[in-house]
Amino acid sequence: METRGIILAGGSGTRLYPLTAAFSKQLQPVYDKPMIFYPLSTLMMAGIRDVLIISTPSDTPIFEKLLGDGSRYGISISYAVQDEPRGIADAFRVGKDFIGGSSVCLILGDNIFYGKLDFLRDAIRLNTGATIFGYQVHDPERYGVVEISTDGAVLSIEEKPDKPRSNLAIPGLYVYDESVTEIAASLAPGPRGELEITDVHRVYHEQKRLNVQQLGRGIAWLDTGTPESLHDAGTFIHAIEKRQGLKIGCLEEVALHQGFLSPEEYRFSVSLLPHSSYKNYCESLLANI
Ligand code: G1P
Repeated sequence: METRGIILAGGSGTRLYPLTAAFSKQLQPVYDKPMIFYPLSTLMMAGIRDVLIISTPSDTPIFEKLLGDGSRYGISISYAVQDEPRGIADAFRVGKDFIGGSSVCLILGDNIFYGKLDFLRDAIRLNTGATIFGYQVHDPERYGVVEISTDGAVLSIEEKPDKPRSNLAIPGLYVYDESVTEIAASLAPGPRGELEITDVHRVYHEQKRLNVQQLGRGIAWLDTGTPESLHDAGTFIHAIEKRQGLKIGCLEEVALHQGFLSPEEYRFSVSLLPHSSYKNYCESLLANI
């Protein structure tokens, strides 16, 4: 069965208040698109066509309005509500029926990746158990942190440790086999009262089925957790788009490149867009197909 994708776009996003007072963090603009376009495009570029978006009761209808059933991008998008923020691992409880017996790639709706994303496609293809990634940052204490030996074996995983044992943060992008729903169902909430994703990884680690891939310097993993980092992410996207004249996270374009939309279907999807620089960009690509 094909790997399915889940985007977790819940949470209260209070660190971005008042931006997040009325609607969720993952709907905030990152330069010229709502934030969720970026993680959705990441999943699509990895070949995933079946996506579940999990959000709050009040924001789920807004995501639905924004992205519809996915047919305009040649994919299927369904929605599920998480009534309360119960932690990242709760996504596997809420998404149990959606996952069924397939493997699944989970991305947090506020995680933006840029660069050569083949690593994700490879991880999905080669995954046995769970695959997580390690990305060097200067402030690992803000993230899940993984410590690995010189031969790449996992030595420890900790969630936001006071004294990180390495500078490898774990991005919010994970690949699991079908047993993740069972593992999540067996967990008890941690000290924060939430189902911790780190506990899911600990179980895979105990079962000797946890793989870590270190992401190199060619990949940008952008943070959007504070007003400043959100602004920086927008500036980054703007700088690259302006320099190249290419858009990052343009869902119609990704769908066309992936073959999710035929040229005719692409033309139709673009014809429905309102007049905007986004539409102009999509139309400009028609000349090449
Ligand atoms: C979550 C995870 C953390 C991970 C981070 C990536 O933290 O708990 O392990 O490193 O996402 O974005 P949060 O951002 O929800 O505090």
